[in-house]
Amino acid sequence: MTELKRLDHVAVLVPDLEQALKFWQDQLGLPLDHVETVTGMDAKIAFLPLGESEIELVQPTNQDSGLAKFLEKQGPGLHHICIEVDDIAAKLEDLKSQGVQLINEQPIHMEDGRQLAFIHPKGAGGVLVELYQLPGNG
Ligand code: CO
Repeated sequence: MTELKRLDHVAVLVPDLEQALKFWQDQLGLPLDHVETVTGMDAKIAFLPLGESEIELVQPTNQDSGLAKFLEKQGPGLHHICIEVDDIAAKLEDLKSQGVQLINEQPIHMEDGRQLAFIHPKGAGGVLVELYQLPGNG
């Protein structure tokens, strides 16, 4: 049985990172760990740690990307939540066997050793759910 470990992050889609940080950092008071430009995702991401989890503020950097189109269609707000699991391949198999619709049937291997996959919102009550397996697990 694969274990669901913790909420890794909540990703919020924003049109303007500086503007968004005025609320999340200055007004709400979350610390800003760092800002990273993720070319593969066409996004600039601010990481704000919160306990064992973090809030990720995601600003699309390419107007043609899926993220930019999502932002244009839905407006700013919650994009996805991410849950850390100890065995992502087993979890995906388990979900598939239950007929849950997946966006990624196989885990995507990142350069830093992370593996990730998305569950389709259709199978998850309208919420885009990301799964992570962190390096050192499995
Ligand atoms: Co994410």
